[in-house]
Amino acid sequence: METKSILMLYFLCSFFLHLAVTQEVAKSESEAVGEGAAEKRETLEIIIGGGGSPSPTPSPSPCPPPPPKPLSRLEKARRVLLRFKSIINDTSCYTQNWNANTDVCKFNGIRCATFPTDKQRAVAGLDLNGAKVSGQNGCALPLDGLLNNIEELTFFHVNSNNFSGGIPENITNYKYFFELDLSNNKIGGKFPLKALKNRTLVFLDLRFNKLTGEIPYQLFQQDLDVIFVNDNQFSGYLPENFGSTTARYLTFARNQLTGPLPRSLGFAPNLTEVLFLGNRFSGCLPFEIGYLKKAVVFDASRNFITGPIPFSFGCLKSIQYLNLAHNKLYGVVPDNLCQIPSLRNNGNLSLSNNYFKEIGPSCWSLIKSKVLDVSQNCIPGLPNQRSPLECHQFYYRNPESCPKPESFYYVPCKSHWGWGTSPAHEPQATGSPSEPNVVASHEDQREEELGREGDACVFEIDLLSVNDES
Ligand SMILES: *[C@@H]1O[C@H](CO)[C@@H](O)[C@H](O)[C@H]1NC(C)=O
Ligand SMILES: *[C@@H]1O[C@H](CO)[C@@H](O)[C@H](O)[C@H]1NC(C)=O
Ligand SMILES: *[C@@H]1O[C@H](CO)[C@@H](O)[C@H](O)[C@H]1NC(C)=O
Ligand SMILES: *[C@@H]1O[C@H](CO)[C@@H](O)[C@H](O)[C@H]1NC(C)=O
Ligand SMILES: *[C@@H]1O[C@H](CO)[C@@H](O)[C@H](O)[C@H]1NC(C)=O
Ligand SMILES: *[C@@H]1O[C@H](CO)[C@@H](O)[C@H](O)[C@H]1NC(C)=O
Repeated sequence: METKSILMLYFLCSFFLHLAVTQEVAKSESEAVGEGAAEKRETLEIIIGGGGSPSPTPSPSPCPPPPPKPLSRLEKARRVLLRFKSIINDTSCYTQNWNANTDVCKFNGIRCATFPTDKQRAVAGLDLNGAKVSGQNGCALPLDGLLNNIEELTFFHVNSNNFSGGIPENITNYKYFFELDLSNNKIGGKFPLKALKNRTLVFLDLRFNKLTGEIPYQLFQQDLDVIFVNDNQFSGYLPENFGSTTARYLTFARNQLTGPLPRSLGFAPNLTEVLFLGNRFSGCLPFEIGYLKKAVVFDASRNFITGPIPFSFGCLKSIQYLNLAHNKLYGVVPDNLCQIPSLRNNGNLSLSNNYFKEIGPSCWSLIKSKVLDVSQNCIPGLPNQRSPLECHQFYYRNPESCPKPESFYYVPCKSHWGWGTSPAHEPQATGSPSEPNVVASHEDQREEELGREGDACVFEIDLLSVNDES
């Protein structure tokens, strides 16, 4: 019991220190830590003490040599940091005060806290965001030697530097490690699965690197809250177990991912914002996406997705930003989609550059209020559409049909907002005959959860940009 609260304290200590440096993370993590956290803050600041007390310096005793005293946690970390400083080209002088006679807790970008097991002070976090350090004389700057030698770390943020090579695997043994931000570096190779196999990690940011290969299914088995892997060169299908992820914020944008969006996606319990844009996804939209009742942002634009929009999309009751532009979608824009209050009230529904040929009656007012963009489609009577020839050719060639076509009419939610004017189109909410019971039971579960939550938060940072994070 006691151990547990001490662990939490360490976690919180470094966490609050860390709040001071990265606002946008705070946004998401403060929720994860919970309400009580704010009250504890004062206490924590006293414990942390701003790194004021100088570390005990081991007195160099001449002879006779006593049995060597084990180095303190701070002293070990100092050596690692000074060695790191000696191999970098730090043109922005970020590490200028990293010196032998400075308290390591006062090093620029270093955060200290009391380590739970032995109450020693330790380096709990490292923040080199935007420091632009690189190797000397054009040499590579490996993470090895730095990241793998400070086992007390809870967070490691090195956004916008010139790190390359692999991610050291033994960081999985770090007991309290929960945030890894390697965005905007030159990290290459396959997805660093071995290095990230740890239940303590909640924040993973690998954006803007040179990672290749497939996104492994194990990624979706971890208790992560944030998965940012956009702007790499990942390829292949997204694994079928996608929906097991606990994450709320996920970006896969601008990779080379292919295949359909996985059906299980709709069952990701916490999914709030997800970006798939700018890949090579194809196939049809799985109706299960309509189960994402917490989804605020969903962007699958600029892919090769085809088929109609499932009627289930009308159940995305929290959606504020839905972007499916620049795909090969066709058919009718469902009326119930255009009735979702969170979209109508200042939302953004982008369906431009597809092949829709009809829109639900409720959609017209959304066009007027500039919430809905259906330019460059095949909708008669609207300006700025594709040429009749282009539309004719698309439909004449019999666009790809979708598996389980009846699922596109399935509406897995009650008619919260009236169902517009064409009830003839709408099947019963209790499910089309072909829907297996599994779906129904999932739905029940969802309804229960929703009863308890009041979570309508919007993640305000720009999920795709990393250069302005400092
Ligand atoms: C450090 O980087 C600067 C700017 O890129 C470069 O001019 C300089 O030669 C580099 N120095 C070393 C030792 O690599
Ligand atoms: C960054 O690292 C790469 C090698 O990984 C090197 O070619 C490049 O010159 C480095 N950039 C700077 C500014 O040192
Ligand atoms: C990780 O590996 C480095 C050397 O590669 C070693 O010095 C360090 O003690 C290891 N840390 C842990 C926690 O295993
Ligand atoms: C993660 O860290 C814990 C705590 O140190 C350790 O016991 C475990 O082996 C690590 N790896 C995994 C896969 O959990
Ligand atoms: C995410 O979902 C899991 C499983 O439903 C739940 O235990 C966890 O509390 C959720 N986390 C957040 C941050 O909502
Ligand atoms: C909606 O989103 C699109 C794509 O991001 C953007 O270009 C457009 O300006 C947005 N529309 C409104 C009204 O905010």
